[in-house]
Amino acid sequence: MITVAGSINMDLVVTTDRTPNKGETLLGKDFQTNPGGKGANQAVAAARLGNTTKMIGHVGKDAFGVSLIENLTQQNVGTEYVKTKDGSSGIATITVAEGDNSIIVIPGANFSWEAEEWKQYTTIIQKSDVLVLQFEIPLDVVEAFADMANKVGTTVILNPAPAQALPAGLIALADYLTPNETECKELFGMEAEEAVAQFPNKLIVTEGEKGALYHDGTSLVRIPGFPVKAVDTTGAGDTFNGALASAIAEGLALKEAVSFANAAASLSVQHYGAQKGMPLRKAVLERLGELE
Ligand code: RIB
Ligand code: NA
Repeated sequence: MITVAGSINMDLVVTTDRTPNKGETLLGKDFQTNPGGKGANQAVAAARLGNTTKMIGHVGKDAFGVSLIENLTQQNVGTEYVKTKDGSSGIATITVAEGDNSIIVIPGANFSWEAEEWKQYTTIIQKSDVLVLQFEIPLDVVEAFADMANKVGTTVILNPAPAQALPAGLIALADYLTPNETECKELFGMEAEEAVAQFPNKLIVTEGEKGALYHDGTSLVRIPGFPVKAVDTTGAGDTFNGALASAIAEGLALKEAVSFANAAASLSVQHYGAQKGMPLRKAVLERLGELE
């Protein structure tokens, strides 16, 4: 079983030919509201791949909150640990231009955690094979979850996104850390090649269609990605993390797990919306078969 403790957002997505400059007004092309949030996206990715998946998180007391929970349920993600809190649901304003995106997140209910509220989830964390965490809920809550998982022997995947200062204690509690190249530089002040050598078999840096990089203690391991024509990269990193969790929960070796996650991520970018392109297991296995 996979548990994701993290954010649940409604994505307000505009599509335009190019990103506007400061002070500039553009006529865009399209507007959509799509379920998102790094946590929820990662949970949906894992569930699509056939894993029993539970979400721990908060939505607000508004219409978005209702439809965000509904969506998770439809996607086969267990929502018994999703609470509705006063205030507004998390939202993200996303601009998609030229196949790439820029995002502003307003956390809303994702940040309303009471002191020690996380303690309610001890049993579910204990029952989980893998716990996936990100940085769209308060850092102290992330630390508490990582610590709890660590104590009961549940594998922790920490996707340190959006990047923020990473306490050394939290690095130690994570079994896997999965920043992208930009986040890696912000977190460690080093290029990926250099950073991964400091945290062998732990730090996995995603590099878009180039694939992913880690260090196995002896040498650099670069797992090639799958070249695709991306229409929307929103949620590609989340698909990678959900798929990585899935592969690790099944006991795959790191190299195979990263390949599996790469394949899943490459499929996800061929559709608009963070969750829409997330593949079923069969599609991932087919794509991996293309390697042979
Ligand atoms: O990683 C993509 C996600 O980041 C979006 O769904 C958005 O909600 C933001 O959290
Ligand atoms: Na997508």
